[in-house]
Amino acid sequence: MNILIVGSGAREHAIARALQKSPKQKTLYCLATNANPGLQELCSDLQIIDINDNAIISQFARDKEVSLAIIGPENPLANGLTDILMGSNIKVVGPTKEHSKIESSKSFARNLLVEYKIPACPKYKIFNSMKGVQAFLDQLGDNFVIKYDGLAGGKGVKVSGDHLDSHKEALQYCEQLIRKGGPFLVEEKLVGEEFSLMSFSDGNNLKHMPAIQDHKRALEGDMGPNTGGMGTYSDADHSLPFLTKKEIKEAQKINNLTAAALKDKYGYGYKGVLYGGFIATSHGIKLIEYNARFGDPEAMNVLSLLDTDFIDICLALTDGTLKNIDVNFLNMASVCKYAVPKGYPDNPIKDEEINIEKINNTKGLFYASVNSNNDKIMLAGSRAVAVVALADTLSTAEAEAEKEISCIKGPLFHRKDIGKKFIIQQRVQHMRKLR
Ligand code: AMP
Ligand code: GLY
Repeated sequence: MNILIVGSGAREHAIARALQKSPKQKTLYCLATNANPGLQELCSDLQIIDINDNAIISQFARDKEVSLAIIGPENPLANGLTDILMGSNIKVVGPTKEHSKIESSKSFARNLLVEYKIPACPKYKIFNSMKGVQAFLDQLGDNFVIKYDGLAGGKGVKVSGDHLDSHKEALQYCEQLIRKGGPFLVEEKLVGEEFSLMSFSDGNNLKHMPAIQDHKRALEGDMGPNTGGMGTYSDADHSLPFLTKKEIKEAQKINNLTAAALKDKYGYGYKGVLYGGFIATSHGIKLIEYNARFGDPEAMNVLSLLDTDFIDICLALTDGTLKNIDVNFLNMASVCKYAVPKGYPDNPIKDEEINIEKINNTKGLFYASVNSNNDKIMLAGSRAVAVVALADTLSTAEAEAEKEISCIKGPLFHRKDIGKKFIIQQRVQHMRKLR
């Protein structure tokens, strides 16, 4: 079987590893934005192209007689790559352009939940101009969030108290978004603890993955600008220490209802990974955003824990036979930490060498935005490499991940606090206070 992976970050490296583990005969191909050495090693051919060019991708897929494609990042999904490849009879893990609106348009996602009476939305309003913004901010008071409506790599959101200190600053940001071409959302700021719950969806049935907590802020103590995600963890029971079983069930139910809503709206089912970005609040589980793909870094956690043949899962997703297979994950805790270039996310250092020779467990190392160049690994301008450790307890996994990431040399930084007991305990206390 010839399998195409679109994308070349650590998520796609994790996807390639999971495919490689399958005993099935296969040849892997990758269409990439950078010369990722991990993907180069696993794939028969890796070509650097514009991954937003559907014509180049479909030509490559036909030339290589690809029968299964897995689309990693959001932009090709939003561009309708799935629809194009499906038109060439290729099985695709990743939703159609219509279904991808659940991620590519934050207003679509909010409106869908309201239309189908899925009670997980904060108060929100969608704007194309400044008309009515001040009045809605007055209604929300000090707790507001401003969001660009389209894809912004996790960086289009500004939150009161963290990034915006007054209505004046909020209005200035709205004006900036209008100049960029708007539209935008103003939302009530939700207070609680965030987590990711990703589900495999075959169009009719969902199978849920372990809950993961990501850390979106660049700096320790959840300070600094929003990023693509600095690191993640999950507990051995597939939950998180600050969540109850009921809360996990609530999030799973919201994913089930959303997949059913998408099927009802478009007349066919959502196929791929449905990723709910949730927040546990004093009023139950609410939705922060939906993504139409594996999370990055969440993919490194769940695919390292996956104990079922990933090719079987991909085929079940595309064939609509997910209910016939068991999807199992190891009962182990996982911690993933990203090393990112100094200056990330605003002014990341580029084209400097990093060195990973001291890494002990290369199976837990995932290459991201780096280029392999004459046996050197050079920074390519975004999150550089991730390490994942699995263990019976979170504290052992954290210690292992921290040891590994600390021995990577170069102009990098990482968040030492991710997965540490004190920060997890803070989350537990926070939720106790809220409940
Ligand atoms: P998003 O790109 O929508 O995931 O937003 C990025 C980050 O902004 C989230 O991970 C949250 O930390 C924060 N955020 C977004 N929407 C809200 C909200 N309504 N209330 C509180 N925080 C939010
Ligand atoms: N971990 C955040 C994302 O993949 O969007």
